[in-house]
Order: sequence, then C-alpha cells, then structure tokens
Amino acid sequence: MKMKTFLASLLALAVSSANAQTNEMIVQANKPGATIQNTMYGIFFEDINFAADGGLYAEMVKNRSFEFPQNLMGWRTFGKVELKDDGPFDKNPHYVRLSYSGHHDKHTGIENEGYFGIATKKGEKYRFSVWARCPEGGKSTILVQVVDNASMGETQEQAVCWVDVEGKEWKKYTAEFTAKKTMPKQSLRIFLRGFNKGPITTTDLEHVSLFPEDTWKGRENGMRKDLAQALCDMKPGVFRFPGGCIVEGTDLNTRYQWKNSVGPVENRPLNENRWHYTFDYRFYPDYYQSYGLGFFEFFQMCEDFGCEALPVISCGLSCQFQNDIKDEKNAHVAIDSLESYIQDAVDLIEFANGDVNTKWGKVRADMGHPEPFNLHYLAVGNEQWDYKDNEAYTARLKKFMSVLKKKHPEIKYIGTTGPDSEGWKFDILKPKMKEMGLDLVDEHFYRNEKWFTDSINRHRYDKYDRKAPKIFAGEYACHGKGKKWNHFNAALLEAAFMTGYERNADVVNMATYAPLFAHVEGWQWRPDAIWYDNLRSFKSCSYYVQSLYAHYKGTNVLPLKMNNKVVAGDSDQNGLFATAAVDKNTGETIIKIANIGEKAQPVKLNLKGIKKLTSGKVITLHSNEPDAENTLDNPEKIVPQEKTISVGGNILDTEVPAKTFAVYVLK
Ligand code: AHR
Repeated sequence: MKMKTFLASLLALAVSSANAQTNEMIVQANKPGATIQNTMYGIFFEDINFAADGGLYAEMVKNRSFEFPQNLMGWRTFGKVELKDDGPFDKNPHYVRLSYSGHHDKHTGIENEGYFGIATKKGEKYRFSVWARCPEGGKSTILVQVVDNASMGETQEQAVCWVDVEGKEWKKYTAEFTAKKTMPKQSLRIFLRGFNKGPITTTDLEHVSLFPEDTWKGRENGMRKDLAQALCDMKPGVFRFPGGCIVEGTDLNTRYQWKNSVGPVENRPLNENRWHYTFDYRFYPDYYQSYGLGFFEFFQMCEDFGCEALPVISCGLSCQFQNDIKDEKNAHVAIDSLESYIQDAVDLIEFANGDVNTKWGKVRADMGHPEPFNLHYLAVGNEQWDYKDNEAYTARLKKFMSVLKKKHPEIKYIGTTGPDSEGWKFDILKPKMKEMGLDLVDEHFYRNEKWFTDSINRHRYDKYDRKAPKIFAGEYACHGKGKKWNHFNAALLEAAFMTGYERNADVVNMATYAPLFAHVEGWQWRPDAIWYDNLRSFKSCSYYVQSLYAHYKGTNVLPLKMNNKVVAGDSDQNGLFATAAVDKNTGETIIKIANIGEKAQPVKLNLKGIKKLTSGKVITLHSNEPDAENTLDNPEKIVPQEKTISVGGNILDTEVPAKTFAVYVLK
C-alpha cells in the first residue's frame, strides 16, 4: 500500500469511528457556574417592515393628522374639501375643512385607505374618534362607514356610525361600531351630512382615528393584541427599542427623538421613516412614524412583559453608512455641541425613573404612570464606528459618559462595536469599549449559514476576554440563500450558535434576534421573527428558537463536555451543539442540544452529581425539510413539540433526530 493511500484509510477509519462513537455528554449537574442573567434572551423592536404604524400599533388610519409631506396621502376627497394649517395641535397643525359642495347630490367627504387596507373581524367592536368643530357655529353630522370598495352595493351593510358635531370649539368625538363581516381590505369613508337632515354646516376634522376595541390590555392608544401577545409569550428578559438605524436618522432632523414620542398622542409630531426609501426595490413612500407608539408605550410594554427596558439614544451621529463623517452641518453634531443630546439622555432617565415632581417625571405621571418605570440600562448610539484617524464615535461617547456616569451611576451603559461582528470597524472599537469601561457592548451580525457553522464563530465567545465589557448580541440572524428567508435551517443554526451564548453566560448577558416584525405586504428586510397581515399573524421558526431559550433559560450554567470538550459542532462531534443549565428556582436541569447534521444521533446524557432523575420532558423543534417555513396559511407547520420521557438514575439514553433542536428538562 502506498503511503498516501495508507494515510487516507487511516483517516477514513478515524472519521468513521468518530461517527460511530456514542455521544456521551457529561454534565456536572451539581456544579452550577456562571449566572444566566434574567436579561439573557429578549426582543428588539424597530419600526421597520411596518412594525409600528401598520403593525403592533393598532391604529388603522394612515396619515390620521394630515401631516405627511403630501398632506392628503392615503386619503381621497370628494365634494368640497380644503386643507388648513391652524389646527388645535401645534406640532400637527393640519386638518381638513368639509363644506357644502353647492349641490345636495354632490357629497362632501374623505376616505382613508389604511395600511394596506382596513380590515375588520366579524362581531368585533371598533372605536372611531375625531377632533372636530363647526367653525361657523351650528351643528352637523358625519356618517362614518367602513366600506369594501371591491364589492359595491354591500357598502351599507358593513360597519356604520353617526357622529354629531356641535359648536365652534374643537372637541374630541368618539363612536363605536361592531363589524358585520370579516373583510381584509376596506376603506374608512366619512360623509358630511346636515344635522337632523338639515342643511350642510361647514365642519373641520383633525386626528381621524380608528382602533379595534380589543387591543392588548384594552388600552385606547393600544397595541394589536395578537402581536403584543406573541411578544409576551416569548417571555423576553429585555426589550431594546426604538431601533436600529431609525435612532440615528438619515440626517439629524430625522433621528428618533423620544421627547416627541410622549405626551398627548394628537400632538406627537410626525417623523420620516428611513425604511421608506432605504431599499429602492422595496420602496414605501407612505411610510412615516406617527410616534403613536412612543417611549411611554414601550416602557409600559416592558412592565407588562416583566422585562428590562433598554432604550437606545442618538449619540449625535446620523447614519454613518449614508453620510460623510465630515458633514457636521446636517449629518453629525460637532463634538463640542452635544449638550442638548446629552440632556435628552439625562431627561430620559428622569422620564423613566424621576419623581412625579420633576419635569419629566410629571410628564410620565400625567400620562397615567406616577410610579417609576425602573430603567436600568441605556445604550448610546446604534451602529457607530471610529476611523483610524477619527474618533467619530468614541469622542462623542466620552462626552456622554462624562456626564451620565456622574449623574446616574446606577444605570448600566451600552456602547457598540458597529455594524459588523468582525473587520476593521469592530477591531478598532472593541478595545476602546474596554478602555472606556462600558458595562456592555452591542454586537450585530446578520450572517449567512456558512458564518454560523465556521469554527471561529461557533467558538466565538469561548475565547472572549473575561475582563472586558459584557456582550449584548443586540441584532443577529442567520440569513439563508435564495428564496427561503425564514426557513427552518436558519433557525436551527441560530439555536446551535446560541449554545455558545449560554455556555458563556459569564460574558454574554443579553441577546435579541432581529428584526422582530414584518407586514407581509410592507416588508423591507427579512428574515423576521413574526409576520402578519391585517387579520392574521404567524411566528417563524426563529421565533420559536428564541422562545425556547427564554422559557428554559435556567439560572446558572452547568459544565457540559463530550470527550472532554465543549460541544460546538466540531468535526468529531457529529453535528451536535449542546449546553446545560440548572434552574435553581425549579430544581430542573436543562440541556439544550442542536443536531444540525443529516443523521439522528444517539446521545447519552450523564448527569454527574445527581442520584436519580424523577421526571423529564423534551421539547423539540424539527423539520425534515430544511427549507420549510411557517406562513400565514400554514402558521403551525413547524412548532415545538413536547413529550414526557421516562427517566431514572442519572443517565438518560436518548436520540436527537437529524435537523432538530431539542430541550431536555429533567427534574
Ligand atoms: O435590523 C435592521 C437594521 O440592521 C437595523 O436598523 C440596523 O441597526 C442594522 O443595520
């Protein structure tokens, strides 16, 4: 036998014996290690893909305050309608004036197209509201209909209500109706009528709004119930908001300004949404931010979900991808002119935590929440970076930190290593974050399947500096190739990668998959965790992976080894990734195993230090088709399956099917 052939057969023997080996995983079940933070698995919300207006925020009227740059965008008018700009809300001054057209058969009115239509569900109640007045005095009536333009003639059958308007003063009028049909794509039509069938009286309308009555927690300025419920069901430990790139803005004027997002909803000014034009192949010229879902509502949801709030604020740099770093006129604030930006951060802490007698604490109290929101975290900047010869980000961050750390040492501050998980931007910032003593650093990685299976990434956090700031994986997702964007295999690789978060819980303290939401008719970016149209929603496989990690988080990492090595899909590990934790509150040992390979793997779980297991279950997420995905029509194609397993002693012999994420919960 030639030497080359001999070596090849030796290698083949070694590989086949590795494949045939029993995958014995030894868990030191009585040696709890690093604490797994309550914040470990969370959610990240950004108004992208019509996530806020047209998504989670349950408002159904688009451009309700007539403030889009084309003031009547989303509206059709008929009869005599004028646009005016001296309305009752100084930050939203526009409104419409409806008058007699000159002929009783030429009706006057307006009609709104909603976000991809206005959908109603049979038997559900809807709350219409409008600010209105009769500027010349007297009384009028408006007839409000939800009409299906596709089936004319049936219009009068659908939801209808009448509202009487009286007097010269602006007042808020409300009316309720019950939908007679489930219809996906209608419009909201408003006719001006004479009071008591009398003559038409000129009538002004402002802030025209329509909400389902059954919002999350029944709130008036509420969230869509199914979507908020999906977030709550995930059991998030932390909630990062409001972005993402929208925090930075394409220019300074369009950055997210939290102060504009609080107070009476009628007077929150409109902001541009960069996702309306970022991708010209997914162009949405009618995508703006109404701020109806603002910082108060974000904090309120954190409270509802029992998780930590993690607001992100502008550091004075607008999107660095879109702007020249030298442009300190429109794009960036000069380093010595950051006072108002830093003050925004200080005031935000006061809004969240301040006493009701403080300026911003009072704003919170006036909105109905005198108790503090107990903010503990604040991120300064989203995806910012320095250059070799220009400390664009860190020079600004230092200014923020010098004030914030003095005024609010109780808060944990989060910096960023930019948009990439490696490369020059990352390499420049990483050591600086340590030098500056940030509490956490936000890392982002939207990467392909290969990246998730490369050894360097599978072992990424095993090698991290234990003395550096803790890691917040603030935006990440596995992006597949071709058409399958939320396909099962991407979720499986995320599950495998996340074993590295848990194993390194002494370093990784938070992780939030991104983006969170997408409207099927209005997305700009995919994959996403939760998808919806106006009536239905579904959870992607990635959502379920996040949810399984969050539900079975545990309190402390347990050492787990196979052949004396951590289990991270190495060549002798048969496609297996694994991690173990104990939940000190429930006494459960939790073992998560991802088998990304094509073959089922026999696994022996040997729980050292435990005499006898008394009960056990396994929850699996599996598909035979790596490209399969959940859809609106088949929302439960791939969902976690739970079964009890018989246990006894401290050894569990099991098999993890091919392409499966399995969570063993053993008592
Ligand atoms: O999640 C989509 C975008 O990805 C975020 O806005 C940004 O932070 C990142 O580049």
